[in-house]
Amino acid sequence: MHGPLPRYWLRCIGCCAEYPGSSRLYSCPRCGDLLDIVYDLGEEASRIPWLRNFESRPLGVWRYRELLPVEDHRLIVSMNEGGTRLIRCRNLERELGIREIYVKYEGDNPTGSFKDRGMTVGVTRAVEVGAETTICASTGNTSSSLAAYSARAGLKCAVLVPSQRIALGKLSQALIHGARVLAVRGNFDDCLKIVRELSRDPRFYLLNSINPFRLEGQKTAAYEIYEQLGGDVPDYLLIPIGNAGNIVAYWKGFSDLKNMGLIDALPRFMGVQAEGACPIYRAFVEGSSEIKPVENVETVATAIRIGNPVNWKRALRAVRETGGLVEAVSDDEILTAQRLLASREGVFAEPAGASPIALLMRAARSGLIERDSRVVCVATGHGLKDPDIVLRTSKNLIEVDSEMGAILRALEMAPRA
Ligand code: F0G
Repeated sequence: MHGPLPRYWLRCIGCCAEYPGSSRLYSCPRCGDLLDIVYDLGEEASRIPWLRNFESRPLGVWRYRELLPVEDHRLIVSMNEGGTRLIRCRNLERELGIREIYVKYEGDNPTGSFKDRGMTVGVTRAVEVGAETTICASTGNTSSSLAAYSARAGLKCAVLVPSQRIALGKLSQALIHGARVLAVRGNFDDCLKIVRELSRDPRFYLLNSINPFRLEGQKTAAYEIYEQLGGDVPDYLLIPIGNAGNIVAYWKGFSDLKNMGLIDALPRFMGVQAEGACPIYRAFVEGSSEIKPVENVETVATAIRIGNPVNWKRALRAVRETGGLVEAVSDDEILTAQRLLASREGVFAEPAGASPIALLMRAARSGLIERDSRVVCVATGHGLKDPDIVLRTSKNLIEVDSEMGAILRALEMAPRA
């Protein structure tokens, strides 16, 4: 008799070496490349009529629990993450002349960003392996999310963030959830280097997107989009790229749907970087197979202010294999897009989360995206994460005396006759 097959295991994305699912690794001991989690999906998919069986469960990450790497469901650390709205944007459709535009609004998640999808799986794993302290480097959202999930799991949490460079909403979340917050005099890439070093010590459990368990949680957004579109996928998926984990997670999610025979083709992946932090864009336009890290990164979209993204290799594969591309957008374009989305559709995304709309505006003008297309833009984080940027740039705030004449003048209205 054979014992039960492992439901999932780890596979190196470089040399394809395989390791048991129970191993506590962040990279391949043989070649140093990142690890992916692979399942016996073919068999699993035929055993359970995929998705149809899940219909009685609410939309969200754990609706897809048979496709997630957790063995003991009693240990799951969850706040009902996922199940975010896919919002049809008819005003933008009219304004940009594109047939169907949707925003997958990840600001709906418990801590206000897509990171919660990854952390529910990643922190559950931290509990399973008996970690003492969770750690991450972060431009903000990862730290908010890790702090919250660690608090819930009763784990200590330490986060390294670039000093003075993360949005205040995110910083306050990490603090209130009880994380030890180290404001490092350096950038995100410096912080990541340090936590990778720290993670060799088994007391720490690292939850940046080099951790393959996190990306498993994040892939569920692709399944949700498929379900929310009534069992279909968009022609284009527009998604911001920072450390490049999320685009890889979506690629995996849509690839699963294809491997299970549910869809014929993946959406074209359109990755968006900020002009001041765009090493993957440069590698893409140069047709290069390597990225050149950018030293001095700068952008108003602090969430994606990253010069040396760890997941670059698979991000390039995702756009190349789906016939997509990577673009770089300016800070002005990002802020214009953020205002457009908020003022036309009532959807408030933080600057990085609005960057796909910036690309969409450009692509609609240039004809890069055809008028007859169905487009999904991933709004990765809530606008309230970073209110400062709005207060600094909005012209809608007027201070007035508490007197009717002054009020009407400020509203540019004549007194009533
Ligand atoms: N959008 C937002 C709002 C983010 O916070 C991030 C990443 C991204 C997009 C890019 O995602 O890194 O998977 O390509 N934020 C990380 C953090 C780096 O530390 O919060 P990615």
